[in-house]
Amino acid sequence: MTSATALRVLTVDDNSSLLRFLVSAFTASGCAVTAAPTAEEALDRIDADTFDLVVSDIKMPGLSGLDLLRAVKGKQPATPVVLITGAPSVNSAVFGLRHGAYDYLPKPFSIKEVQGLVERVRADRAKWNGQTPLPSGLAEELHRREAGVEMLLRLGDLALQGLEPQAFLEQTLRLASDSLRNDGGLLLLRDEQGHFTSAQTGAPAVVSELLGLLQLAFDRVVATGGREVLALTRPGHRLDVVAAAIPGVDRCIGVVCLARLAVNGGFLPDERDMLLGFAQTTSVALQKLVLRENLERHLVDTITAFVNAIESKDPYLKGHSARVALYAAEIASVMGLDDETIQVVSRGAMLHDLGKLSIMDTILRKPDRLTAEEFAIIKAHPVVGERILKPLRFLHREACCVRSHHERFDGSGYPDGLKGEDIPLLARIVTVADVFDAVTSNRPYRTALPVEAAREEIARGRGTHFDPQVADAFASIPLERLVEITRHYESLVSAPLRIGEGELARAS
Ligand SMILES: [Fe+2]
Ligand SMILES: [Fe+2]
Repeated sequence: MTSATALRVLTVDDNSSLLRFLVSAFTASGCAVTAAPTAEEALDRIDADTFDLVVSDIKMPGLSGLDLLRAVKGKQPATPVVLITGAPSVNSAVFGLRHGAYDYLPKPFSIKEVQGLVERVRADRAKWNGQTPLPSGLAEELHRREAGVEMLLRLGDLALQGLEPQAFLEQTLRLASDSLRNDGGLLLLRDEQGHFTSAQTGAPAVVSELLGLLQLAFDRVVATGGREVLALTRPGHRLDVVAAAIPGVDRCIGVVCLARLAVNGGFLPDERDMLLGFAQTTSVALQKLVLRENLERHLVDTITAFVNAIESKDPYLKGHSARVALYAAEIASVMGLDDETIQVVSRGAMLHDLGKLSIMDTILRKPDRLTAEEFAIIKAHPVVGERILKPLRFLHREACCVRSHHERFDGSGYPDGLKGEDIPLLARIVTVADVFDAVTSNRPYRTALPVEAAREEIARGRGTHFDPQVADAFASIPLERLVEITRHYESLVSAPLRIGEGELARAS
């Protein structure tokens, strides 16, 4: 049965009985069928008419089904082409799909399969609603390319996230695995001393086979300098394994190696290209990572030195920030925070009064009572400090400590009057450390409280000035450790920094 909306199908096969079968199967599925015994004749038909579907055998005398496929894609790119083959294999199917075939029909096939195919083509046409649909093979290729580009972009982002090198490697490999659909992968980096760091993914059996293969081929892969992809297995092997070198500035810094089970199809040429792009982007990302680490460390050192230098000139500030950093780290560790967070809170504490250091000395050291205006300037120091750090995105958590270290748990602090857990936890930690150091240090108008009395003062502020959880953590730090910290700083005094006679605690 045919109708005005019947699919116009061109069937092509040199085998006359199969051609007859195709004609009857498609006709039975409600299509208007045109039959051609050769690809050449099919091309003539295509020149004269348009079709909604072309179904062609691959192996034919003269032009093959693949030649026909390419010709159809040149003339009527939106027309789906289905290839028939008598020797189905994943690779030949993939080959056809890569050249824009819509689907694959392995011999022998039944009328039911033909009906299924017709239904899919109809559904796709309905879905595209008159627009030119992308042939599914092309859609798949485009999708793959897009995924590849996205992978490379995300890889660039990873380098900026401040991950530890091991985590960076693992996430990098995961990205490659996700977009290149591997059954196993290995990423090896070699440092200047010849030590290896690695990340791996996939079943243990595949990974161990990869390791063995890579051991044998490592030098060969390195010799490519990252300009080409090497196959580490021969056709017919159960795994298709490809590897690329990760180039460095003056030497190869590693190798990335991916495996796919042969039954899942080998790596296609554009997937191999993607692996090269991946290796090169990893190289750039790693260089960024190293550069960024150095740059960040350098910046933090510079700012810390700046804080120390300014404080050391002032008898009331000397050593304050460094001690606050030690107390804060102690509290964070009692609270069970991880090492990285402890480092952040300690840096945040080191920088907490950065804004104060930019305030005119005349105000800070003024022996008389401050005017309301001068007091307002001092009270701006958390915001000023945060503003100084703001452009350094990698210090954004530290910048929060700086902004909020004068907030109070009951909401009566400044600059934002935040209350309770709205105050960042790390800032709540710095607050306790800051006040403790302020009261255990001499002020121009008051001598320092002994450590024990200062501890009681913190306990009194529990729930009003201080987060109870942080105050409790502080209370559980052994007294000797607190005393040790004040003295610890004293023992460093040969340096320009000596134990502080205390903070000019006016802003506390
Ligand atoms: Fe402060
Ligand atoms: Fe302070």
